[in-house]
Amino acid sequence: MTQHILNISYLIASITFIVGLKMLSNPASARKGNLLAAAGMTIAILATIFLYQNSETGEHLHNHLWIFGGLLIGGIVGTLAAKKVKMTAMPEMVSLFNGMGGACAALISLIEYNHISHIISYTPNSDTHSFQSTILIIAIGLIIGSVSFSGSIIAWGKLNGKIKDYSFSGQNILNLVILAVAIGAAGYIVVHPQHQLIFYTILLLSIIYGILFVLPIGGADMPVVISLLNSFTGVAAACGGFLYGNKVMLTGGILVGAAGTLLTILMCKAMNRSLKNVLIGSFGGGATTASGGAASGQGSYKEISLSDTAMIMSYANKVMIVPGYGLAVAQAQHTCHELEKILTEKGVEVKYAIHPVAGRMPGHMNVLLAEADVSYDKLLEMEQANDEFATTDVVLILGANDVVNPAAKTDPSSPIYGMPILDVELSKNVVVNKRSMKPGYAGIENELFFKPKTSMLFGDAKKVLQDLCAEIKNI
Ligand code: TAP
Repeated sequence: MTQHILNISYLIASITFIVGLKMLSNPASARKGNLLAAAGMTIAILATIFLYQNSETGEHLHNHLWIFGGLLIGGIVGTLAAKKVKMTAMPEMVSLFNGMGGACAALISLIEYNHISHIISYTPNSDTHSFQSTILIIAIGLIIGSVSFSGSIIAWGKLNGKIKDYSFSGQNILNLVILAVAIGAAGYIVVHPQHQLIFYTILLLSIIYGILFVLPIGGADMPVVISLLNSFTGVAAACGGFLYGNKVMLTGGILVGAAGTLLTILMCKAMNRSLKNVLIGSFGGGATTASGGAASGQGSYKEISLSDTAMIMSYANKVMIVPGYGLAVAQAQHTCHELEKILTEKGVEVKYAIHPVAGRMPGHMNVLLAEADVSYDKLLEMEQANDEFATTDVVLILGANDVVNPAAKTDPSSPIYGMPILDVELSKNVVVNKRSMKPGYAGIENELFFKPKTSMLFGDAKKVLQDLCAEIKNI
């Protein structure tokens, strides 16, 4: 009976994961989807703690103090971190939490290996063959989980600027050799599970591989890598599900693995690059923070005053706002929505052009604007926006840079060459708001700023938008 209730709980949890994931694909239902999946996870955890029964001994879990102690500490740390994190630091946090998931999967492998190793050493003449399939899963979980752990920690360090890109010649070959040795050693341990030294060598090699694999990857490619590592963690967790015969862990792991893989592919597509190119190329190398030197003379740029900007926007038929990372930094989403409302009241059609990699995480701009209650039907995806620029009077770029850089289309030597961009130049006027002429994330100049149609409106996005709202109200 208990087993039936446990299975039903796992089934309910699995369904909530699937439905929750589906709901995440739309900003309107994303929050509820997240809560639904979290509720499912709570059911799965509580059901395991109170209903799980060892099939051989019939024992229930009894170490409740340890379990609830861990849950309490993890719950408090996780809640505080999620509440305190700034929107711009989300990718770092995702990376760190993903690393913890990888570490958990690797720890499961370590514990289960020790368990088997204990049986082998205390049972003379035990048949090591009977452990082979279990050891295979343990080894796969160990490799993938450890790579995900160390890779995610390096990604976290790179995103918050504590670790710099590092590469040396022959690094890709060394990486391949390390990975091949780790896989070879895993094959050996499956046949000879009693050789503990080999097992711990696999752990060490996997950790080193994770570090070397992520270290050289350029700053702007980090989201792709994080998503890939996320899918690794899912696969490693699914190995844990296999080991324990735990269906919900298996389902959860497979969902994370599949979703992470799909996201990785979609992001590569958005940047028009292959995964291989991301992993062994060097797009945007070194630019882990949105800083850099001043633009080094592409010609001259012209500035526009607030009152002139207010004037051309007020008398426009159609205005397209292009939000970027700078809007998130300035936390100007609410003021931006205010501007949209003021213009709309004046009869101006206002829309937002959303580039898939604007900001610092997938869907960053959608989340940011949803926070300010911007209506979803005003958000245009890149392709739709590109179709509408030709009929747009004013494009207002708010803290975006790389996603509107024409070098992606015109300069084959540019590191962002090939990435689809927002074709803002098709519109009649382009106003760019940023604080200086410094480059964006990829660390490269933007020739758009020097084009005849473009005018620069310098200042912090929030302050500029506040002043712009005040000016437009007075027109
Ligand atoms: P960026 O190219 O990073 O440019 C942002 C611009 O905002 C900077 O040039 C900066 O110029 C300006 N800025 C910063 N603070 C500001 C403020 N308070 N007020 C006004 N402007 C401010 O942004 P983007 O166009 O959104 O492109 C995103 C880039 O990040 C792409 O290269 C993408 O590949 C990469 N990336 C994307 C993701 C995902 S998945 N979205 C994750 C990581 C990296 P000033 O300093 O002169 O103000």
